Amino acid sequence: MTDLDPTHGLTLITGASNGIGAELARIFARNGHRLFLTGRDANRLEALADEIALSRRERPLTLALDLTLPDALPQLLAALAHSGERCAILVNNAGYGQAGRLNQAKAADQIGIITLNIKVLTELTLHLLPQIIAARGAILNVASTAAFFSGPGMAVYYASKAYVRSLSDAMHYELAGHQVRVTTLCPGPTQTGFAERAGIDGPLFKLMRPMAASYVAQAGYAGLVMGKRLVIPGLSNKASFLLSHIVPRSWSMPLIAWLQDKRQA
Ligand SMILES: NC(=O)c1ccc[n+]([C@@H]2O[C@H](COP(=O)([O-])OP(=O)(O)OC[C@H]3O[C@@H](n4cnc5c(N)ncnc54)[C@H](OP(=O)(O)O)[C@@H]3O)[C@@H](O)[C@H]2O)c1
Repeated sequence: MTDLDPTHGLTLITGASNGIGAELARIFARNGHRLFLTGRDANRLEALADEIALSRRERPLTLALDLTLPDALPQLLAALAHSGERCAILVNNAGYGQAGRLNQAKAADQIGIITLNIKVLTELTLHLLPQIIAARGAILNVASTAAFFSGPGMAVYYASKAYVRSLSDAMHYELAGHQVRVTTLCPGPTQTGFAERAGIDGPLFKLMRPMAASYVAQAGYAGLVMGKRLVIPGLSNKASFLLSHIVPRSWSMPLIAWLQDKRQA
């Protein structure tokens, strides 16, 4: 596989205002890609765009919006169209989880997870696919090691990431004939804003030695360049992938339920 050609169009990164998405933005910028960055926090998006511009790269276009709101997708597509450039590379990174048993969860939070992690990712992909195919571009979908298991204590999040992985695998197969690379990035615990928002940022999360977001992002970018279907950064995360094929769910679920309860403590 050759390098991703930055001249074929814009790279759109969702969830670029923080964590893995911000690190992906830095890496794509270093590799000469023109960026369109979204996230909710306008100040952080602007600061990142300034930082990239200061490194003598083209200043990314930015749009701050909550992608779960009903009019967000038309707004984003209109802003992209207004840029006058097609989208060649789509990085579906925005996502969140929320810990807690379903009988205690707020329905709105759980539906929000489905909206962002599944609905927005799928809609954005479907809308931009013609442009991406025309550009012979690429799609990087950020899933999680949660995609390999059923996750009592964080059930909707785990299920949402299983969807992302399944969809991405099928897209990798379908789009190979169009010379479009599709890669799924499956990080494990990573140092970002994710754990705090999910309510799992207790001492156990720190004991799990979360990876640096820059390391995870670099692995994702390198995997996309190589046209890999699946990227799992780090040995412990690769081990959990292997275990998911060996250990029956009747064994893994009590362990995950215990882990989720402890992580909230
Ligand atoms: N960190 C981990 O341990 C871990 C492990 C496995 C997978 N992941 C996955 O990695 C991806 C990136 O998360 P992260 O770890 O980098 O977490 P993060 O630091 O919380 O970043 C999440 C990004 O998504 C954006 N976002 C959240 N809700 C949004 C909404 N409603 N509309 C638009 N943007 C929204 C955030 O924007 P604002 O900050 O501006 O709100 C932020 O830019 C997610 O899909 C997550 O599921 C994370």
